[in-house]
Amino acid sequence: MKKLDESFWIGKTFDDFLFRPQKGLSESRRHISLDSSLTDHISIDLPIVSSNMDSVTGADMARAMAMEGGIGVVHRGMSIERQARKTAQVKRSQSAVIENPLCLPLGTTIQQAIAFGKSNDITSILIETEAGSGILAGLLSRRDLPWTNDALDRPVEEFMTPFERLITEKPDISTEEASRILFEKRIERLPLVDSKRQIHGLITRKDVFSMRERPYASKDDKGHLLIAVAIGARGDFIDRADALLEAGADCLVIDIAHGHSVVMEQAVTSLRKHCGDIPLICGNVATAEGALFLRDIGASAIKVGIGSGRGCRTRLETAAGVPQLQAIREVRQAVGEAVPIIADGGIRYDKDIFLALICGASTVMLGSALAGTDEAPGRVIEDPATNMKKKIYRGMTSPEVIFNTLYDEDDNDELDRALETPAEGQEMQVPYKGSVVDILSRIRGHLRSAVSYAGETSLSEARKKILAEPERYLIPLSDSSRHESYER
Ligand code: XMP
Repeated sequence: MKKLDESFWIGKTFDDFLFRPQKGLSESRRHISLDSSLTDHISIDLPIVSSNMDSVTGADMARAMAMEGGIGVVHRGMSIERQARKTAQVKRSQSAVIENPLCLPLGTTIQQAIAFGKSNDITSILIETEAGSGILAGLLSRRDLPWTNDALDRPVEEFMTPFERLITEKPDISTEEASRILFEKRIERLPLVDSKRQIHGLITRKDVFSMRERPYASKDDKGHLLIAVAIGARGDFIDRADALLEAGADCLVIDIAHGHSVVMEQAVTSLRKHCGDIPLICGNVATAEGALFLRDIGASAIKVGIGSGRGCRTRLETAAGVPQLQAIREVRQAVGEAVPIIADGGIRYDKDIFLALICGASTVMLGSALAGTDEAPGRVIEDPATNMKKKIYRGMTSPEVIFNTLYDEDDNDELDRALETPAEGQEMQVPYKGSVVDILSRIRGHLRSAVSYAGETSLSEARKKILAEPERYLIPLSDSSRHESYER
């Protein structure tokens, strides 16, 4: 383990360094790559992860994060069934080819078809000759639905486009060819069938266009969005993991306040025995010893940050914690690049993200910076005194989250655990910020700009250079230089 240069790093966090600008090499910042590793096997185009907090990441945030090239971790403050449903919803929302499109048989009533579409969040339904036959009989789209309610009990075949009038293609059509057909024929859906009309898949115009508009979206090899999900370390966490993996989760996150613990060790051991070699992010830790421990028990990425979060009172209540840049550097020195580091907590400005990355993190988790957006769970509230629009942001061990658990009569285990330790988080109101897409686009721009100031054409090159000789590139700040830099 490489030793930390104590005089340079001890006590350091985000407002303690600037970096020395280098000769800029790129003519256009638009081409600067920010590609980075989330785990040892998953990389993403934008090194940003949304936090597994109930005021930050549900299905909408997870979808938006992946569409923009980052990834979201869906929080676990809900039943297993609900979290699995949200996961499946995100996975289903995009795909190169929908391999098992949902179907209804001939004879289904319009009313049943409308209910089926609503509950599965789809607007067009393939109609098969009989239940389970997989033989295409037609397509019922939103446009085909009768205008009045008089026809609700009539069968779908009276309204659908029958097979004979449908444009279909062979199962092995290329994505480019499919895109051309969708575009030229002005159709929304292209069913893929063989010579016996057997359904092999469905390509939609929405998916094809989104692939073209957002080539940087975080997707698996079937074109589905990547999604991470939080599970606990006790109680029903194995059942939760099973259900979430079944729903398509790409990565599990065991997130507990004190990751360097026997609780974590037992959880990872049972999970690895039960689920095998799945991508598994573990945290949180803030020391070299904690990181080596997580590496040795088999973490695929290490989440770093104790007490740095904005909704967090751990340092105030227990005095436990390590200043965040010191923690990131210490962990990086201990584990090198073998196990990627996710810097979690304390990001207030975009410059903090770049500092976390060049001090050792591969990706950065954001909570409060993404709270208050349209995609974060919860409603916008207008403060009658100021007319300002706000949303709630709260620590996951805030009294308010614990109150919710107290009223969840179904989960006594969780209740016992919630009451075991007093609250170490707090709730606050944050300004309403509009769409997270705009925030991510701003972050992307600032990170590219920072890479350019660092004299490189990619984030990975900037990290490599500065990580090798941080003392050469980082300038520790005095009180007056901090004043000059940040006070406006
Ligand atoms: P930011 O600063 O981005 O931090 O809002 C998000 C991170 O804060 C952590 N977190 C907590 N820490 N008590 C804590 O000690 C809590 O109640 C709490 N809730 C969230 C978490 O790591 C998150 O990603």
